[in-house]
Amino acid sequence: MRRVLLWMARDRWLKDHLPRLPFAKRAVRRFMPGERLEDALAAADRENESGVGVLFTRLGENVTEPAQADQVAAHYHQVLERGRVRDRPIEISVKPTQLGLDIDAAACERHCRELARHAQKAGTWLWLDMEGSAYTEATVALYERLKRDHERVGIALQAYLRRTAADVQRIMPLRPCVRLVKGAYDEPAAIAYRSTTAVDGNYQALAISLAEAARDGRARLALGTHDSDLIERITTMAEAAGVPRSALEVHMLYGIRRHELVRFAAVGHPAYSLVAYGESWYAWYMRRLAERPANVIFALRQLLP
Ligand code: FDA
Repeated sequence: MRRVLLWMARDRWLKDHLPRLPFAKRAVRRFMPGERLEDALAAADRENESGVGVLFTRLGENVTEPAQADQVAAHYHQVLERGRVRDRPIEISVKPTQLGLDIDAAACERHCRELARHAQKAGTWLWLDMEGSAYTEATVALYERLKRDHERVGIALQAYLRRTAADVQRIMPLRPCVRLVKGAYDEPAAIAYRSTTAVDGNYQALAISLAEAARDGRARLALGTHDSDLIERITTMAEAAGVPRSALEVHMLYGIRRHELVRFAAVGHPAYSLVAYGESWYAWYMRRLAERPANVIFALRQLLP
């Protein structure tokens, strides 16, 4: 089921047709507050009231025209300006291919640099999401170049990739900011761990080494997962190694296990909700279904009147 859903996420015909169906529009509302920036800002108010910070991501990936990348960058500059006047700043999370990595890598980097500069000035952070493995090397290399010049830049790293332990070592001298996630794409066994036990084991080992760096002020670490048991195991081990809760951030996706996120915030972990919005939600939504095939039943129920 997971593989079929991830194949559907990539299929062009479905991408063009499925989002037009009213039941699909209703189903996606579970994971996103709406398509407009105003919807995301209203969600941010609600999250902040519960002691939770926010990151914004405007959905979309693999743009094919430079003008689309320019428009995405302009949108994120607008978000940074809107965030400036709020009590808690809004962090932004971008996909490199949404800023044109496929079509003009230099322009993509220029956009990222301008956003990083703006984020720094606005007292907030720019994060690079991690996409499929075709983009891992380019994204890590982009991160290295950005981080040398801009303090407030983070990167998502995927625990299912065999290379990630080496990537963590590679970026460690830069005092990195890492959101550790399990990984959402369909990757072959040659480059990725495929069993839950192996992915969780690698996640835990990577998290502990990053937590120790965070304790010593050499990294910022966000546990980007809804797996509360795994978070509990990591925090117990990290606390035994002297890592304060303030150095163990928990990030979850808007609409998933919110009660758990609020609970982690209440016991002293900086907690953030990644709020996704925008019109290009199809591929992203299919990845959310693939993570938990039971979500398909919820989506199909939206077919009922
Ligand atoms: P796991 O899949 O083990 O789920 C643990 C529990 O959480 C499940 O039992 C279920 O209860 C709940 N849950 C998980 N997913 C759910 C869903 N879709 N719907 C309902 N309940 C669900 N990936 C990537 O490749 N690149 C990236 O940049 C990012 N960025 C990112 C940011 C943040 C803040 C988060 C939380 C996640 C990502 N991801 C990501 C996605 C990540 O790689 C992974 O696919 C999902 O988080 C699902 O895995 P879990 O870690 O939640 O564990």
